[in-house]
Amino acid sequence: MLMSTKPMFDLAYSGGFGVGAFNVNNMEITQAVMEACHAERSPVILQISKGARAYANIRFLKKIIDACVEEYPEVPIAIHCDHGDTVELIQQCIDDGYTSVMLDGSHHPYEENVAITRAAVDVAHEAGVVVEGELGMLGGIEEDVVGLDAEEYHKNIEQFLTDPEQARDFADRTQIDSLAVAIGTSHGAFKFKHEATLAFDRIENIMKTCPGLPLVMHGSSSVPQDLVKIVNANGGKLPGAMGVPEDQIARAVRTYGVCKVNIDTDLRLAMTAKIREVFTADPAEFDPRKYLGPARDSICELVKRKLQMLNSAGKTDEVVAHWNKEGQPLPAFYSRAGAGV
Ligand code: G3H
Ligand code: 13P
Ligand code: ZN
Repeated sequence: MLMSTKPMFDLAYSGGFGVGAFNVNNMEITQAVMEACHAERSPVILQISKGARAYANIRFLKKIIDACVEEYPEVPIAIHCDHGDTVELIQQCIDDGYTSVMLDGSHHPYEENVAITRAAVDVAHEAGVVVEGELGMLGGIEEDVVGLDAEEYHKNIEQFLTDPEQARDFADRTQIDSLAVAIGTSHGAFKFKHEATLAFDRIENIMKTCPGLPLVMHGSSSVPQDLVKIVNANGGKLPGAMGVPEDQIARAVRTYGVCKVNIDTDLRLAMTAKIREVFTADPAEFDPRKYLGPARDSICELVKRKLQMLNSAGKTDEVVAHWNKEGQPLPAFYSRAGAGV
């Protein structure tokens, strides 16, 4: 069932779970995520980056997602724009039928971030679409914005973390629906040189200055070492890849107001590890179904484990009931004749 993230976050905030936001780029990844959510009875956010829009052509990707909405009617699904960087892109996503968007102005000076995020909120709310903003700076690579490398980031981490007082001002002035915070995570497969600790004191303080505001954790792949080993043992080269320990993500969603957890890198690792394994076992294999099929199964197993870790497994009925009770309309896009699902 298609919906915005609002009913999911309402329940996640007080219910000690987080909704997995998985980046989708093609049919196999999308099917794998959805099959896992169906099996675990979990709500889900399917998120589409600017790169994914360009790679797949959004018209194709949107049709795949529309098919998922039909195929899995019991699963609450939100379609989200990941790291939108202009109001024009946000408008396109709204026109394409997304139910949620992110305007990431975190790399701009503060006042510019406020202004561009507010402009996105104005167009999105008008269309019934919710908005995620971002404050603070993550390490790694964000979309086209090249962030800081892991070492430099962690040496200077204090200055990059989200400031709780600024978060209050940002939320008030932009009227965002959720806030992506910098609390020590970063994008990609090389997040930490040593064992990582998230800044839980920061999350706690942001919850005090912004009570009830759903928080979002980007860069939350755990970079499973078994997958890294398979990649490296089968001709890959990811030495020293390391992610956010899963127990810390579990703590963030169960104990704090983290309602959305972004995962992309782990899907890529699961897919790549399996494809490399298939090719090592049979270098003569050239039927794409024989490597993309197992890769899809491998992503599905990974996502099932994530949904348990996020504590969102088994929550579909609760979310659907809340959505129906609130009687929340779908974004304007869906009331236009013949549009979408
Ligand atoms: O945060 C970025 C996501 O992992 C999307 O990556 O821009 O390569 O699609 P992408
Ligand atoms: P990872 O690189 O840790 O998977 O993070 C993905 C993300 O934050 C997408 O917005
Ligand atoms: Zn991100």
